[in-house]
Amino acid sequence: MADATGNKIAKNYYLDTPAQKTGFHVKGMNHADWGMKDRLSRIFSKTSGNTLMLAFDHGYLMGSTAGLERLDIVIPQLANDIDVFMATRGALRTCVPPDYNKAVALRVSAGSTVAVDDVTHEFLGVDINDALRLNASCIAVQTFVGVQGEEKKSLKNLSGAVNMGSKYSIPVLGVVAVGKSMQRDTKFFLLATRVLAELGASVVKTYYCEDFEKVTAACPVPIVVAGGKKLPENEALTLAYKAISEGANGVDMGRNIFQAENPAAMAKAVRKIVHENYTDATAYEFYKDIIK
Ligand code: 5RP
Repeated sequence: MADATGNKIAKNYYLDTPAQKTGFHVKGMNHADWGMKDRLSRIFSKTSGNTLMLAFDHGYLMGSTAGLERLDIVIPQLANDIDVFMATRGALRTCVPPDYNKAVALRVSAGSTVAVDDVTHEFLGVDINDALRLNASCIAVQTFVGVQGEEKKSLKNLSGAVNMGSKYSIPVLGVVAVGKSMQRDTKFFLLATRVLAELGASVVKTYYCEDFEKVTAACPVPIVVAGGKKLPENEALTLAYKAISEGANGVDMGRNIFQAENPAAMAKAVRKIVHENYTDATAYEFYKDIIK
């Protein structure tokens, strides 16, 4: 077995050589089966290769989140400008009309709320049959790499979801959560994203970091970037632009869209970066033109 210590430091990421997407347009998925490719094609544009996921699964952890107090009102206002609903089954079934023909990234892990201090205890809560009933294009599992006592459980959840998903050609979105004891640095995200991909995740969600191009280069499946806590709109657009420029295949943004001064305008502006090669500056000008 490989030793955990004393190994040479990885350093050759071939940053000038993008991963070959021979055939299928989603990174690392050329050998996937038809059903998996169909579901991934609903997530990732064949034209840009990217995706704009609207994350509104916060309620599973945070309850009524600012900007999501009324999902039944907020989501229809944003639906036309995003590609994927990242949501819980409860939110979808109660608040989201099923006729948008949008991909669904279904949150299937749960187990902690902000009522406790440590939100790193999750289990696989959604049965694969319910994911099929909701026509999920992927199933999302939270992982806690580096968190003592939770790392193994969360990676077991991920592996269980990959095993369940494989039976029905449903891709798994592995979510890199950052435990309180972890540093949001390149070393951590290089480790966590690669581990999730090696364990079978077809898409990995993580946060932007320094040397992010190494993280995307070393991850053999597409990475989407979470927006994180609310930033000023121009800074959020810079985050999206840098992520896409450095190899992410999309963003899975929540608070920086639904807590924006004008959420619909923000979704449109982020979309320009994700799918139309806008820079952060041009996307921000676009945003300001809409809201003036
Ligand atoms: C909330 C989540 C969200 O899916 C993820 O954090 C993306 O949302 P945001 O852009 O608001 O961070 O896992 O628990």
